[in-house]
Amino acid sequence: VRVGILISGRGSNMMALVEQAQGYEVALVASDRPDAAGLAWARERGIATFALSPKGIGKAGYEAEIDAALRAAGVQVIALAGYMRLLSDAFVARWRERIVNIHPSLLPRYKGLDTHSRAIAAGDATAGCSVHVVTEELDGGAVLGQAEVSILPGDTADTLAARVLVAEHALYPRILAEYVSR
Ligand code: GRF
Repeated sequence: VRVGILISGRGSNMMALVEQAQGYEVALVASDRPDAAGLAWARERGIATFALSPKGIGKAGYEAEIDAALRAAGVQVIALAGYMRLLSDAFVARWRERIVNIHPSLLPRYKGLDTHSRAIAAGDATAGCSVHVVTEELDGGAVLGQAEVSILPGDTADTLAARVLVAEHALYPRILAEYVSR
């Protein structure tokens, strides 16, 4: 199964998906930010990349280009990995049940941003990450898998994020492998 990964920055989850690929191959890494650090990493490994900023072309034009690049690469499933842009309803509908995302919380808790500081502020004993199907509702699609980590005394959003990120890198490749073989 050919997977396309959308990133906006660092790309550590994308790297984990590439390095632990099982039952899928990463056919394209695309970014809305041409300077995303992860793009250079993918390029160095001979993975096809595509970068386009939406600035000046509008959301619809931008998404049409991304869609064309994914289709040209033969992509069948899209994995969002730190992709910081909301996909339009039309794009989601075109790829229905074929887009997954990793979110740094135990969904349905803490959809959206600042998940770690919200978990700490709430006094939660655990935090974690979720891989879910992408629907029109932000962070709202069916949860495919989760990993839990403890919140420790003295944790800050940064120390907790680092602990959750380790869990993300193990969870995402495993759940994507399951998903593409469904
Ligand atoms: C991860 O914590 C992911 O769960 C969230 O954004 C972060 C992306 O990090 N959606 P990276 O770009 O994969 O390193």
